[in-house]
Amino acid sequence: MGPGVTNLQPGDHVVLTPAPPCGECYYCQRNEHSLCVNAMSIMTNTLPDGISGLSRSGEAVLRGCGVGGLAEYVVTPSTGAIKIDKDIPLDVVCVIGCALQTGVGAVLNTAKVEAGATVVIMGLGGVGMATVQGARIAGASTIIVSDPVAARREAAKEFGATHVVDPTTEDLAAVCLELTNGIGLDYAFETPGKLS
Ligand SMILES: NC(=O)c1ccc[n+]([C@@H]2O[C@H](COP(=O)([O-])OP(=O)(O)OC[C@H]3O[C@@H](n4cnc5c(N)ncnc54)[C@H](O)[C@@H]3O)[C@@H](O)[C@H]2O)c1
Repeated sequence: MGPGVTNLQPGDHVVLTPAPPCGECYYCQRNEHSLCVNAMSIMTNTLPDGISGLSRSGEAVLRGCGVGGLAEYVVTPSTGAIKIDKDIPLDVVCVIGCALQTGVGAVLNTAKVEAGATVVIMGLGGVGMATVQGARIAGASTIIVSDPVAARREAAKEFGATHVVDPTTEDLAAVCLELTNGIGLDYAFETPGKLS
């Protein structure tokens, strides 16, 4: 640990995040860490001051994806290492580092989906599949999912989807209206990033 680090102790178990909040900007002070104005610079694989902190034969070595996910050791800002309970298996908890926190966090923390709500999720990649799980945890009554890949639609059923739609052959909006008696869904999540 470097000087000034107060949130961790040697031996702590942590999950790394590729977008550590600075903890000091306007949004961080409001506890809206996902809006941190300094986080994006950290996602460039360097530390907040623009250096990587690592070198080999005089050349800078960058931290892959901002966390050095394939390395055994990495230098990271203390806000990028989130302390977790020691009884959580590290090989399980590691998936929380990105897609899972994005999808589940969107449902529970951002949208604050309530029990009984109706939800549609477009896209079933890492983020979308985690969003399905978040909706299930929130107690959503209807979870409609859409993805052109059949295997992903099948997997989504295991994670909690109640209705699956193939957007290449079905009209998703029409299905949503039909399943909600013309009312429409309470919450819609668009997760593909780039639509195909
Ligand atoms: N993976 C992460 O941890 C993570 C974290 C934060 C943000 N993101 C961003 O979120 C986005 C999605 O990431 P991902 O890892 O889940 O991607 P992914 O490529 O694994 O999944 C995208 C899914 O969207 C589906 N899709 C494409 N067109 C569609 C359409 N018209 N209708 C419905 N589904 C459609 C694809 O078939 C695919 O299953 C990207 O922009 C990514 O940069 C990813």
